[in-house]
Amino acid sequence: MDSQRRVRDAALALCLFAGPAAAADMTLKAAAATSGRYFGAALDPDALGEKPYRGLAATQLTSVTPENAMKWESVEALRGQFDWGRADALVAFAKAHGQKVRGHTLVWHSQLPLWLIQGRFSRQDLRDLMTAHIAAEAGRFKGAIYAWDVVNEPFAADGEWRESIWYEAMGPDYVAIALRAARAADPDAKLYVNDYGVETDGPKMRALRDLVASLKRDGVPIDGVGFQSHFALGRVPADFADVLAKFAALGVDVAITELDVRAPVPADAAALARQAEDYASAVAACRRTPRCVGVTTWGITDDRSWISSFFSGYGAALPYDEAYRAKPAVEAMVKAWTAPAP
Ligand code: XIL
Repeated sequence: MDSQRRVRDAALALCLFAGPAAAADMTLKAAAATSGRYFGAALDPDALGEKPYRGLAATQLTSVTPENAMKWESVEALRGQFDWGRADALVAFAKAHGQKVRGHTLVWHSQLPLWLIQGRFSRQDLRDLMTAHIAAEAGRFKGAIYAWDVVNEPFAADGEWRESIWYEAMGPDYVAIALRAARAADPDAKLYVNDYGVETDGPKMRALRDLVASLKRDGVPIDGVGFQSHFALGRVPADFADVLAKFAALGVDVAITELDVRAPVPADAAALARQAEDYASAVAACRRTPRCVGVTTWGITDDRSWISSFFSGYGAALPYDEAYRAKPAVEAMVKAWTAPAP
């Protein structure tokens, strides 16, 4: 612990001493380390064969998340036929580079295999399938995963439970059942519930807060809450840090798990400057919250981002551009991580 702090203080001193030039040179992972946090990104294992992509992933990140490679449709497209290839490749990359892995995601309504969606399974079958899937996947990667997004996106925008095969089969209990199964499969992984649209006060944030409070009350294993943080330009909520603090007060870690800031395209210099401020605000919100363990962006470079296919007219959402050049967001984040404590 002490030596960790010494390393952190030395890195911080070096950066402050060397001034702005050092901020420009410092890696994101070194910058995050100065405040004792990780900096991570979602990665596509297929892209790791490309040198510039691999270079950024190897040098800038303390933590990696498989963008799609651990989703159910990716690992078991045909019932009983597991394909762990891409997930294994990512875990191997992380191991080779001393990085943590955030596992994403065990129970979600989306990106499920067709055999599961179309299978007309009974409620009991679905419960058994869910727990068997958790046992298989979290069991396979046991010991290699820092944190699992066990349940992803349980709520709808109005704070009601999201309709899903899991909710229909088990009601709200599916969350506790999933968390217990994950704990049994990998006792050392931190277990998270992860969602979007919960970064500001509102019905969805409150529903998630009430869920976490009740899970803690009932002794269900939950260690953290992930705030996806898919923001539109200029829309990082002013109360983001307050929200993080509210969840931390329930006795869980919090993390920014899928940060991106989408801009109308083409994005001009003013938009990129605004975006840099938004990235810095998200980092600052994490830093203001002692239990915020780190920040993960949903990709690294603009050419490999989900935004343009999901939000028409938007793009340029990530810290590096299509040519792998650092955008203003990179230096802004380095500064936000290393600035004297707020
Ligand atoms: C997205 C991926 O980035 C896309 O490549 C895929 O086509 C769809 O899913 N919330 C999540 C992520 O938890 O898993 C989603 O990832 C983005 C929204």
